[in-house]
Amino acid sequence: MSFEREILPDALTAAEVCARHIATQLKLAIGARSQATLAISGGHTPQLMFHGLSLLPVDWSRVHLFWVDERCVPPDDAASNYKLAKENLIDLARIPEANIHRVAGEIDPKQAAEDYADEIRRFFKLAAGDMPRFDVVQCGMGPDGHTASLFPGEPLIADRAGIASAVYAPQFSQWRVTLLPGPLLAARLLLYLVTGDDKAQTVRAVFEQMTNPSKYPVQLAFEHQEGTTWFLDQAAARLLDS
Ligand code: 6PG
Repeated sequence: MSFEREILPDALTAAEVCARHIATQLKLAIGARSQATLAISGGHTPQLMFHGLSLLPVDWSRVHLFWVDERCVPPDDAASNYKLAKENLIDLARIPEANIHRVAGEIDPKQAAEDYADEIRRFFKLAAGDMPRFDVVQCGMGPDGHTASLFPGEPLIADRAGIASAVYAPQFSQWRVTLLPGPLLAARLLLYLVTGDDKAQTVRAVFEQMTNPSKYPVQLAFEHQEGTTWFLDQAAARLLDS
């Protein structure tokens, strides 16, 4: 259970420090392999981070953007994680269209998940059973401890072979497409950006209670071989012991 945890004074600082960390990793990847792959999450938290990332000196022509999860809505829908990234990162950083690998939220969820997994297999030139190794996977955490679109009690949390799946989120009455644990755990860098007072109780439980990803899916992070990096603001970290 190895992890690094940075606690920053506020959400903006946490977002900026996280963005700088991502930019550094992307540059290292480009230096090593001439390109970088970044999988991002959605929701509200990443907006500040995306904006900060768009201002950093990254050769975006060499960065390929994927999603950790997507709501099954059209790309111009207010709930779309693609829309959030387009407005706060893609358009500002002028990431080339060819580098954008979005989930087709506007089509049947199961078909969208299959198409997305196929695109990932094609891009990473995967043999059957192989996992994509994203250079950076950025995740968040919901107040219930979910991450990606893996919600407490979701059987897919035990799936270590699949790449992506459609999943129904009952509390949102919404279909989603999510990366499964395999690609999250195969990431060269798996990082979490968690801010806000509403996350504090769960942050304490995640770090201080017994590991049980079915109860707290974000605890999947503790299975990552190289360890994960957590960026928290003081509000989210206020109940932690150490
Ligand atoms: C999503 C996200 C999800 C998110 C958490 C936290 O599609 O909602 O990918 O996993 O990281 O729900 O969301 P907030 O940042 O809105 O708290």
